[in-house]
Amino acid sequence: MSSAYLQCIEENCQRRQDPKKDAHSCAFCGGLLEARYEFDTIDADELRHTWHQRRLSGEPIDRSGVWRFRELIPFLDPGARIISLSEGSTPLVGTRRAGWWAGPVHLTIKHQGNNPTGSFKDLGMTACITRADSRGIRMVACASTGNTSSSMAAYAGRAGLKSLLFVPYRQISAAKLAQALDFGALVIEVGDTFDEAFGLLRQIAPELGLYLVNSVNPFRIEGQKTIVAELMEQRAWRPPDYIVVPGGNLGNASAIGKGLRELKDLGFIEKVPHVVVIQAAGSNPFYRTLAACSAELIPVDDPRTEATAIRIGRPANWKKARRVLEWTGGFCESVTDEEIFEAKTVLAEDGVGCEPASASTIAGVRKLVRMGKIDRHADVVAVLTGNQLKDTDYIMRHRSESQETHQRLRVEPNLDALRKALETALGVPA
Ligand code: F0G
Repeated sequence: MSSAYLQCIEENCQRRQDPKKDAHSCAFCGGLLEARYEFDTIDADELRHTWHQRRLSGEPIDRSGVWRFRELIPFLDPGARIISLSEGSTPLVGTRRAGWWAGPVHLTIKHQGNNPTGSFKDLGMTACITRADSRGIRMVACASTGNTSSSMAAYAGRAGLKSLLFVPYRQISAAKLAQALDFGALVIEVGDTFDEAFGLLRQIAPELGLYLVNSVNPFRIEGQKTIVAELMEQRAWRPPDYIVVPGGNLGNASAIGKGLRELKDLGFIEKVPHVVVIQAAGSNPFYRTLAACSAELIPVDDPRTEATAIRIGRPANWKKARRVLEWTGGFCESVTDEEIFEAKTVLAEDGVGCEPASASTIAGVRKLVRMGKIDRHADVVAVLTGNQLKDTDYIMRHRSESQETHQRLRVEPNLDALRKALETALGVPA
């Protein structure tokens, strides 16, 4: 059994924390914490075989794409019950048009929208709620742009915990809000941005003894990092050149980077792909900070983008993510909402649906290839973070209400009218 501990990530602190306290920030300097392990000797070949064998097992713990790789996240006490919804095990899908459009690059999609609640958040949530449950926590809380909250509500419900959710008023998609309500969460609509809601939650959480499940919770990152083990296994342990993710609160980029580093240190992979983060132009604090080589975050006070999942102006995990880009030789780029829509349209032509934030990855690859920062024909994996049905309002606005697309016609119920409408729409005599 490997032993786990939490440690501050600040370079001039790095102190280990009291393992009995599940804090999110360092007791000494307030920095972010991360889980560390003294791994027992790991035989990579043997473990690869074990993980592979577990795919044949019917046990819930083996059917989860997170817990199948449990040797990489050994933070639970023996006998702890696992709160799982069979998350992970998401497909790796090839593309034709999207790869050609974005590069050409060899583009594959890791579709995290195929998770139980429809987003990548489920990977982190199974880990975090399992941890909370094992510590006797009764109530969990998060601030969210919509996906973390749906996921929290589902997993908390399954564990029998109460969940409390802070969202910016009328700024999250109706489908995501509906999910959280359906799973029984208490929804507090407060402030205009995620940052405002999150700021208030962080202030009130200690008073009410709330257990935060935002990505500042180190155990969320542990669950989310298993995506890279699954991805590498699907690719016969041959890393791509680039892994591209959308950047909001920057938990996902942090998790992917941590996972890659551990896989490399433990001898599972020989090279580490460059991690690339794409932000929406109206909500791009990380991009601005790196472009300015600033030691402090340059926040965006009034973040704007139609990709509401990543409408965040003060990403909590920016230091972790910056470290990941440094480790992996990665970079951050920023794309407009128009570019995001174009990318989403091209993905749809490949039969791949996703929410707008996810499509930013493909828009970013296209931009980076044109800038010469990603080579043509590079081997690129884009992580699509959320399901197409997460934001149907966006689709209806762009596809149904738009006059240009002629995709949706209201026709009088008689054959003449029908013929005429089809003739106009298809451009041929019916
Ligand atoms: N894509 C989607 C669909 C998201 O929901 C999020 C974040 C991101 C990308 C960005 O990931 O924050 O790890 O950089 N959604 C959070 C939420 C903030 O509350 O659902 P990140």
